[in-house]
Amino acid sequence: MQASPAPAILEPDAAGIRRAATALRQGRLVAFPTETVYGLGADARSDRAVAAVFAAKGRPRFNPLIVHLADAEAARRIVRFTPLAERLAARFWPGPLTLVLPRRDESGVSLLAGAGLPSLAVRVPRHAVAQALLAVFGGPVVAPSANRSGRISATTAAHVARGLGGRVAVILDGGRCAIGIESTVIDLTGPRPALLRPGGLTQEEIAAALGRPILESDDDDGSAPRSPGRLASHYAPERPLRLEAKEVRPGEALLAFGPGAPQATLVENLSPSGDLEEAAANLFAMLHRLDRPEVGAIAVMPIPERGLGRAINDRLRRAAAPRPAAPA
Ligand code: TXA
Ligand code: MG
Repeated sequence: MQASPAPAILEPDAAGIRRAATALRQGRLVAFPTETVYGLGADARSDRAVAAVFAAKGRPRFNPLIVHLADAEAARRIVRFTPLAERLAARFWPGPLTLVLPRRDESGVSLLAGAGLPSLAVRVPRHAVAQALLAVFGGPVVAPSANRSGRISATTAAHVARGLGGRVAVILDGGRCAIGIESTVIDLTGPRPALLRPGGLTQEEIAAALGRPILESDDDDGSAPRSPGRLASHYAPERPLRLEAKEVRPGEALLAFGPGAPQATLVENLSPSGDLEEAAANLFAMLHRLDRPEVGAIAVMPIPERGLGRAINDRLRRAAAPRPAAPA
């Protein structure tokens, strides 16, 4: 019942998956694990279910959602693939890569899901629980990260429950997300592929598959954003962030990286050995842990701008950006 304030947190066994798929069919919201972050899932064909996602997240309407599918064949039914899309899908799906492609008129996907754009973002997740849910449900599922808009993404079922609580009917508990940072988003609707959001699949890996470097779309320069989701302030903890910190100031907690971190009373180290993959997996969970009322600010040590470090720095810069006026 919608009246229930607490979501059902279910084991992702056959019975749990069936209950989650039934909830999706009823137009209700289901949070599920993917290899990147937890998704807040809804039936992509239902305007009402998609609207419920925007409402639960408190997300600005102009921000389109990613449509999750069981395989590339299902994706081809809702968007028009290009030869490049075929190549990237064959190489990286299932996995942390999202492709933006022209939507088919007959896609059946809610226009609200794509925020009225002529394109749709599609992704085939690799996580076994996501795969099972998509297979049993048998349709396209929109799934933004399962957090309130502008807040830290969820990488455990507990994060989802804390952030969204009774706004979601079911949470499938698949443990901790292995990658811990959202998928890489590539726009293939233009003359050249453009990176809209750095993420779990590195630019280096994509460039190697394409045989050339990928264009970074500069959508923070005040011109019309190509990826409307890239609001300047995003992924923000309650406490302010101070980036490129070399020392810890009074009242600050420390988000450290690598060996030789300075002393602090409250400290989390993304990766004591300096491993960027480990750091990405820890990022959101550690921000959650440091975001405490007694903390004045979170000092963040520099993270190298290569590989997954680019995606980590992208998220940290957004988290540190000036906050928009408090949402109504
Ligand atoms: O890893 C992920 O991608 C997670 C998990 C749950 O799969 N999902 C996720 O979805 O991060 P979301 O909705 O939080 O992020 C969607 C991103 C936004 O930056 C949005 O602007 C962009 O994809 N996007 C979606 N549709 C688009 C479109 N048609 N054109 C351009 N950008 C689009
Ligand atoms: Mg998000």
